[in-house]
Amino acid sequence: MKISSVRGVKDILPEEVWKWQFIESVSQRIMEDYGFTEIRIPVFEYTELFARSIGQETDIVEKEMYTFQDSKGESLSLRPEGTAGVVRACISHRRLQPDSVSKLYYSGPMFRHERPQKGRYRQFYQIGAEVFGTDNPWVDAEILSMLHLLFQRLGIPGTTLQINSLGCTDCRPAYRKALQEFLVQEEAALCTDCRRRTQTNPLRVLDCKRPDCKEATQGAPSVLASLCRDCMAHFEAVKEALGLMGVPYEVNARLVRGLDYYTRTTFELLSDQLGAQNAVAAGGRYDGLVEQLGGPPTPAIGFALGMERLATLLPEETNHSRAKPLYLAPLGEAAMERVPVLLHKLRARGIAVQTDYLGKSLKSQMRQADRMGAAYVGILGEDELSDGVILLRNMETKAQTKVPLEGFVDQIAETMSGEGA
Ligand code: HAM
Repeated sequence: MKISSVRGVKDILPEEVWKWQFIESVSQRIMEDYGFTEIRIPVFEYTELFARSIGQETDIVEKEMYTFQDSKGESLSLRPEGTAGVVRACISHRRLQPDSVSKLYYSGPMFRHERPQKGRYRQFYQIGAEVFGTDNPWVDAEILSMLHLLFQRLGIPGTTLQINSLGCTDCRPAYRKALQEFLVQEEAALCTDCRRRTQTNPLRVLDCKRPDCKEATQGAPSVLASLCRDCMAHFEAVKEALGLMGVPYEVNARLVRGLDYYTRTTFELLSDQLGAQNAVAAGGRYDGLVEQLGGPPTPAIGFALGMERLATLLPEETNHSRAKPLYLAPLGEAAMERVPVLLHKLRARGIAVQTDYLGKSLKSQMRQADRMGAAYVGILGEDELSDGVILLRNMETKAQTKVPLEGFVDQIAETMSGEGA
């Protein structure tokens, strides 16, 4: 019986994996330039960590976590996101000292039992970054400018940055109450989920995609109108900083997030080319979370980007990051005997080189070389062997030259390094 993969979980095949590698290497470079260092956190944690950080009343914790009991009866969950684990690790290792700023990034698979659809998987990859120890609005702008630069370097077109402020523990309760009162009035028009959310997590109602709920909440009070003076000043400062840095943004007062830990600045980077699952990256401030999880009071902000969504947006022409290889085409047994040692010497010189081990015809080897985008093909048949040469074909110009077998490695190393290979 054939075994299939689990629903909502996908393989990243070799033809596509360059996208993942490209996104990882470009983002790693940018994040390190911005002063972030990498942290690797576990794939599973105690369930309580996620319940206490993401929030008991969120969809993620209520119904999307892969939770299981280990043999001691402990409840564990596969991580649905990275922020909670990073905060837990920083607290466990006492890395959050007063008056110091820590910048960390991470990447890896996350797990959510959502309904699979295009751009939404049950195992998906994120790259995330978190800054601990400051609520300076310039840092909010720095995170957003870093994302902006990353998307520019990746060559991703058609994205919009939306920002909002969700206030703090001083001003949010009053907003929550006002919104709840509004939603109770509109209850008849809301879906069953939103009626429940009106009581448990009213802000989430603003994020419901059903047309009836959207329509019913058109006139909902705006969170921005209820910000306290400090939160308002903070949000103004973030917007001003973005303006000075030339990072384009839109304010969306209905932008709420699916995780409860956020305070003040929240944001999403949306693409116009992804359909329903259009958020490529998202995040915000979470000034209360570290303390809530037992650490010292530490303001923080971060984001995570969805690798699958970003990979779909990468322009195909981006795939030029790898050096074009050399292909050695042996014809006949005697040539096949000579090629492996040549390959070894070429590779020791840092040259990407491949061959055929199946004794295929020249035509079929040329086709293979073409498919792998070879810059040159070195043909070694009986005639070449007896003349002590390799026939070197430039795949772009189609020009062919005879290169003595003796000096082949040196000559090809020079030729290919001259072309940036
Ligand atoms: P999030 O909005 O839940 O935030 O996820 C961030 C990004 O991960 C989304 O914008 C999306 O691109 C991707 N993503 C989420 N769920 C899926 C899925 N089922 N399939 C494919 N891609 C998905 C967080 O996870 C926060 N931890 C971000 C953060 C970091 N906030 C502060 N620091």
